[in-house]
Amino acid sequence: MSENGYTHRPTSVGILACELYIPSLYVEQSSLETYDNVSKGKYTIGLGQQRIAICSDHEDICSLCLTVLSRLLDQTGVHPQQIGRLDVGTETLVDKAKSIKTVLMQLFAENGNTAVEGVDNVNACYGGTAAIFNAIHWIESSYWDGRYAIVVMGDIAVYAKGNARPTGGAGACALLIGPNAPIVFEPGCRSTYMKHVYDFYKPNLSSPYPVVDGQLSVQCYTSALDACYTQYCTKAQMNNESHSNQSSVNEVNLSTFAGIVFHTPYVKLTQKSLSRLYLNDIIRGCSYIPSPLVEKYKGKIDLDSSMNDKELERDLIEKSREVYEQKTLPGLYFSQNMGNMYTPSVYYSLFSFLSSQTNDEQLYGRRILLFSYGSGLASSMYSMICRKVHDSRFTLAQIQKSVKQARHILDNERTELEPDLMDKLLLEREEKDHKAPFTPTQPSEVLKSGNMYLQSVDKNYRRFYEKFSGNNDTTDNETIQKLYTEYFQTRQTNDDTH
Ligand code: ACO
Repeated sequence: MSENGYTHRPTSVGILACELYIPSLYVEQSSLETYDNVSKGKYTIGLGQQRIAICSDHEDICSLCLTVLSRLLDQTGVHPQQIGRLDVGTETLVDKAKSIKTVLMQLFAENGNTAVEGVDNVNACYGGTAAIFNAIHWIESSYWDGRYAIVVMGDIAVYAKGNARPTGGAGACALLIGPNAPIVFEPGCRSTYMKHVYDFYKPNLSSPYPVVDGQLSVQCYTSALDACYTQYCTKAQMNNESHSNQSSVNEVNLSTFAGIVFHTPYVKLTQKSLSRLYLNDIIRGCSYIPSPLVEKYKGKIDLDSSMNDKELERDLIEKSREVYEQKTLPGLYFSQNMGNMYTPSVYYSLFSFLSSQTNDEQLYGRRILLFSYGSGLASSMYSMICRKVHDSRFTLAQIQKSVKQARHILDNERTELEPDLMDKLLLEREEKDHKAPFTPTQPSEVLKSGNMYLQSVDKNYRRFYEKFSGNNDTTDNETIQKLYTEYFQTRQTNDDTH
């Protein structure tokens, strides 16, 4: 018997179920190109983005996290008392001391459970991954008490006006973590690269915007990717060898994986990242690379000096296109249509990839590679294996169903705003962020039945949330658009008269 009283250690620890949040508003990137007066295609082709998700003033980071958590509990039928750990990952801070996790405790305490370990994890877009690692380690430790863990991660990613703004977005997801999972964290296969660098940071605590050196952040992301992949391949290879009786085992390279997903600040960066991993495989002389390519590049280039070589990058994007279209692109639907979600970004890609696969039988036993990056910087690469589960209601099909429901909302239930309204909305957010007292004033017709929303912030900065029990289903998107236009016109008139 192990120290925690259980007769055996849990095995196949991974993701049992998930819920994804879709913000209520969006702007078309093509309209934003016209409005920002940049060349046509800069955001849609150059960055690879279609739409940017926007939150109304009824939606803040706590309401997003409360919504996905309460939906996860409702949809899975897991009772709050069955949860022993809850970890949160975010960089959208509403308080320097009180964690979002404690706000989420409302859903547990009211059901008689105050014994829930875990608090918030903060480091730019990496906090969600740190939260997941904590949850897995708890379940695999002597402190595990047999209950499930939940990880909630989310962010409202907004940038000051300028070239980073089109890469904003928002999202949140809740994951149920436990043993006998349909997607399992592969033991022993994880690499990490962390460093001190000022590529993207939020030193101004009264502003929602980061200070960002965009080009440096892309370079840091790429260096972290190279370092993590080199280390991952070595560890995974050793892992393979220690679990194999054969004298030679398959080498670890891009062909090892059914899917390859990345933290996605914008879609184009993932295509460059996949081509970068392909370059790593060329330099390593991997057997699947066509020999003319090996002859062309092996021994003539190295990772450092090739960092800013645009001609090489274009060639590699072409050469790796098929791998990208098969293993990465199917995971990008949410990112392309929502933008950077910071902490949950790589997990939306994982779920988007899984739900795009039509034949689950072909997925079972296959690995998916994940790369998580948070500026500052912290990064990890690890793999998950898809499993056919027995004697459990938590299946891959169930996860795919949840993702498809989120996609339905994404495609049908959001309201489009014109870019000038997005600017006004973000200006209002800037002015009202962290102000008390505060009551949301934007049209409440955006609220969806069953979602949690911010009701008010009182004069002592205490935030109050409610589940929306009304019904806005009959209010069409055109009406909501009109209400938003009128709302900002009225505010403009009020500002002009004062
Ligand atoms: N048609 C097609 N492509 C175009 C067009 C056009 N009309 N105009 C420009 N492009 C291409 C450019 O050639 C460039 O391609 P390349 O990347 O292959 O060189 C691409 O579009 C972007 O154009 P740039 O001029 O390089 O973009 P800019 O410097 O204005 O902004 C940046 C890009 C730096 C990424 C900015 O959006 C930013 O700062 N974002 C936030 C930081 C970020 O996301 N970092 C990534 C990792 S850290 C994190 O997740 C926060």
